[in-house]
Amino acid sequence: MFDVNAIRNDFPMFKTNEKMQNHQMVYFDNAATTFKPQCVIDKVTEYYENYSTNTHRGDYDIAQKSDSEYELARETVAKFIGANSKEVSFTSGASMALNMVAFGYKKFLKAGDEILISQAEHASNVLPWFRLEKEMGIVVKYIPLDEEGKITLENFKASFTPNTKVVSLAHVSNVMGYILDIKELVRITHEHGAIFVCDGAQSVPHMKVDVKDLDVDFMAFSGHKMCGPTGIGVLYGKYDLLLKIDAILLGGGMNTDFNLCGDYGYLYPPYKFEAGTQNVAGALGLAKAIEYLQNIGIDHIHEYEMELKKYAVSKLKEIKEITMYNEHSESAIITFNYQGVHAQDMGTLLAANGICVRSGQHCAKLLHNTIGIESTVRASMYFYNTKEEIDLFVEACKKGCDFLDVFFA
Ligand code: ALA
Repeated sequence: MFDVNAIRNDFPMFKTNEKMQNHQMVYFDNAATTFKPQCVIDKVTEYYENYSTNTHRGDYDIAQKSDSEYELARETVAKFIGANSKEVSFTSGASMALNMVAFGYKKFLKAGDEILISQAEHASNVLPWFRLEKEMGIVVKYIPLDEEGKITLENFKASFTPNTKVVSLAHVSNVMGYILDIKELVRITHEHGAIFVCDGAQSVPHMKVDVKDLDVDFMAFSGHKMCGPTGIGVLYGKYDLLLKIDAILLGGGMNTDFNLCGDYGYLYPPYKFEAGTQNVAGALGLAKAIEYLQNIGIDHIHEYEMELKKYAVSKLKEIKEITMYNEHSESAIITFNYQGVHAQDMGTLLAANGICVRSGQHCAKLLHNTIGIESTVRASMYFYNTKEEIDLFVEACKKGCDFLDVFFA
């Protein structure tokens, strides 16, 4: 398949942390953010060292270099998700992109219109809709989850009413890791005359995503969860919708003209959504990250992650005090608890053993009400993790109660 040890050499974080902490660090918090390979760091540095200029403003050589690199980055991103480059706007991340959709689309909504989400959604796909509920009386409705925390086709279909105008769901849940059959859900959504917004933050980094094949109306994702820099993300939208929705950020670089009477016009998408000086280094870094992932092969990445997941699940099953909540999900996220130990304490125990996981509610604060668990520990792996790291993680988990008795005596 691919040589994971060679891959790990591309990531300076592994080396520097081992040196600093004097022991191996196991990084299993990849659903929160990922490490960056040297080529991404170099690309960001190249921009700052050689042509650190604004885009779409200057006529001199290095400004034109920025322009062409920035637009090439957009093309790379667009090809990666099967889009046309004019349908791809750079944002600060998936959160920004989801806010842009909610507040940009609100002009097509009125009191009583229903937005379908689920209780497994990340805050970024809940709070913008809550704001519109308070501001203008739209109704946020939840597609019921089954006992495993999944959306079933039956529950999905039953949630529509003639008032349903938007369905907004995560392709992959950031807590449970379940993958939705987006293509089918979009088909049903369109039959009801609604639009489908897809939060791709946890899918695009790990599996092949083709927006045209899925037929989503909007898709949001972040660069930092796929080996790219922080502060850069993407809003994909069908072009006719991008033309129609409002831009929520106004300023330089997105207008055609404005005058003393207060008239102004928008540039065509994607520029309409890129007010102000853009995160050029971020965009270039994201494109480099995509090239890096493509060199490995996104299908290989998904396959290898599934192998890691299977291995980790089988090992964790040996610990009778551990309850896993999503062992059958098709992504490399494992959400669990250790009997009698608060998730936050478990996170501290693992940290003391050099293992980085996330504990708590993972920004999905409705889900824990639904599945009846206050907080969980989440171990999330990426293609640079290894079975040896899983062994270290499992060994640390096994120390469980003994260690905690001493630690918190
Ligand atoms: N959305 C990120 C996570 O799930 C931060 O941890």
